[in-house]
Amino acid sequence: MSLAKKTLRDIDPAGKKVFVRVDFNVPLKDGVVGDDTRIRAALPTLQDLLSRGAAVIAASHLGRPKGQVVESLRMAPVAARLQELLGDAVPVKTVTAVRGEAVREAAAALQPGELLVLENLRFEAGETENDPELAEELADLAELFVQDAFGTCHRAHASTAGVPERCKPAVAGLLLEKEIQAFDQAMGNPKQPLVAVIGGAKVSDKILVLETLLEKVDCLLIGGGMAYTFLKAQGHEIGSSLCEEDRLDTAREVLAEAVARSVELMLPTDHVVADRFAEDAATQTVNGDIPEGWMGLDIGPETQAAYAARLADAGTVIWNGPMGVFELEPFSHGTSCVAQALAQSDAMSVVGGGDSVAAIKKNGVEAKIGHISTGGGAFLELLEGKELPGIAQLDYIDSK
Ligand code: 3PG
Repeated sequence: MSLAKKTLRDIDPAGKKVFVRVDFNVPLKDGVVGDDTRIRAALPTLQDLLSRGAAVIAASHLGRPKGQVVESLRMAPVAARLQELLGDAVPVKTVTAVRGEAVREAAAALQPGELLVLENLRFEAGETENDPELAEELADLAELFVQDAFGTCHRAHASTAGVPERCKPAVAGLLLEKEIQAFDQAMGNPKQPLVAVIGGAKVSDKILVLETLLEKVDCLLIGGGMAYTFLKAQGHEIGSSLCEEDRLDTAREVLAEAVARSVELMLPTDHVVADRFAEDAATQTVNGDIPEGWMGLDIGPETQAAYAARLADAGTVIWNGPMGVFELEPFSHGTSCVAQALAQSDAMSVVGGGDSVAAIKKNGVEAKIGHISTGGGAFLELLEGKELPGIAQLDYIDSK
């Protein structure tokens, strides 16, 4: 998809109240922000608006409080980190509610160059229900809407879809624009060969992605738990590895489709296997079939080398999903190998999803990657070829 939507460049925010939907859904540890990547990623949009004289109302969800006030999920630590990043020249104000009189007053009092962070949007049940009254109330706070919460654009919630439907103009922020442009470059106009690396536990979670990718890629590298369903579908013994018995036919269809489309689909040929799912399990590396009583938890060295060779030759790479149980050290090496191989490749690379991005960071190769997405589920839905509700409601370039 391409972003045929208006952006920050199409608006004059001077003297206006601007509602910016950001994705500040960040990990908190002991009441402070653990990884501030998503907050940093929103800075260009926030700074652009503030420097052009806007009064910015920034709103996000944090975790999944399910319509209740959860003390540990308040936005205060996020606002504190934002204040540090923006510096003292920008006053970051907070309000401990999402709607109501206190919010209206705080928004009305906000001056150009100031920023107000609303409380966790999901403290209101109407947020995830896309409640029209909540959307109306939020939309009434501002004269302009900017969507910069790429990571949440796959959710049709009040703040992501309801507000931009009502608060016009509604345009894309710089992060959203960057995310879509990188994705578009990789999938819409790729330098060949286009290689996709797809991992993760289940075929069922990735089937739409695989089907969409088969129409576009030259080579598909499969890893993670889902590889064992494919291997079983090919007739291999997989021991006690993860297997979706009800997806064996789906796996066979994907394999047949790859042949029909002349896509090179690669599966692991060797495996790091364990006698149980635990960090301290007994392990060994096996080629081909996996013996009874053992489970595959990572791709083996031969597969790592083969996948790395494909990535070295690639023109463009899309990567989503781990090659093994990345969170357990003995089974993290396949995923790290992909991160390293991408860093060494000249390919334009786009990486999205928690474990893949974590592997890039753990290996310290962020600077060598073309684009690291801030989206997990949103990135996957883009890969599936879906239109994201948070983007759908933004104004088209040719609209007045
Ligand atoms: C994410 O972390 O992927 C986004 O912030 C969306 O969060 P959600 O899956 O709770 O909707």
